[in-house]
Amino acid sequence: MTARLPDQYFADVYAASPDPWRLAERWYEQRKYAITTAMLPRPRYRHAFEPGCSVGVLTELLAARCDAVTATDVAPAALDAARERLERAGLADGVEFAGRSLDDDWPTGVDLVVVSEVAYYLSAATFREVLDRECPRLGTGATLVAAHWRHPVADYPMTGDEVHELIADTADLHRLGRYRDDDVVIEVFVTGTAVSVATETGVPGAV
Ligand SMILES: C[S@@+](CC[C@H](N)C(=O)[O-])C[C@H]1O[C@@H](n2cnc3c(N)ncnc32)[C@H](O)[C@@H]1O
Repeated sequence: MTARLPDQYFADVYAASPDPWRLAERWYEQRKYAITTAMLPRPRYRHAFEPGCSVGVLTELLAARCDAVTATDVAPAALDAARERLERAGLADGVEFAGRSLDDDWPTGVDLVVVSEVAYYLSAATFREVLDRECPRLGTGATLVAAHWRHPVADYPMTGDEVHELIADTADLHRLGRYRDDDVVIEVFVTGTAVSVATETGVPGAV
């Protein structure tokens, strides 16, 4: 098993279609993004890291909630499309795009990591190594949200459920919430102690 699907696989996918997963038009995706962003425990973040940003639809939503976003992808065509989308939306100023892989070093100083529909392209061993190397570098109180398709895809090294099992087994990541249906699993984790949003924000009755 190689470390991850080859970059050429995604270059070919984008050569065949500018938005291969139709992220900008499918109601399925819009709804999933709404659930993912609604699950974030904080209204705002300082610096989000989004590996595998594709054409930037989720990046645009994150840019509205974060002072800065570092968005990466292995496909240059995806990065070009994402950059154009953020410029059109007038949100490009705080967003840095880079051609990097999820298994490269993560940026320092991020308080939000968004692993959305990307980790199943890595082998389980590689993703385990990445989590064990990078999660301890996140500061206390950082959020990691993950969202992955649950149906098996023959080409992908892992299923979405396998990805989420690996994340849940990471030292010092604590699950704050989970959404799961037949299609997708979305989970939010925090570093340090998991405190519910109601408790954190002093809603009466929360313990
Ligand atoms: C299905 S799209 C997900 C887009 C976005 N994260 C979302 O949830 O809508 C997957 C993207 O991951 C990129 N990708 C594939 N392998 C990657 C890797 N090892 N590191 C970073 N990005 C990768 C692909 O080029 C593609 O643009």
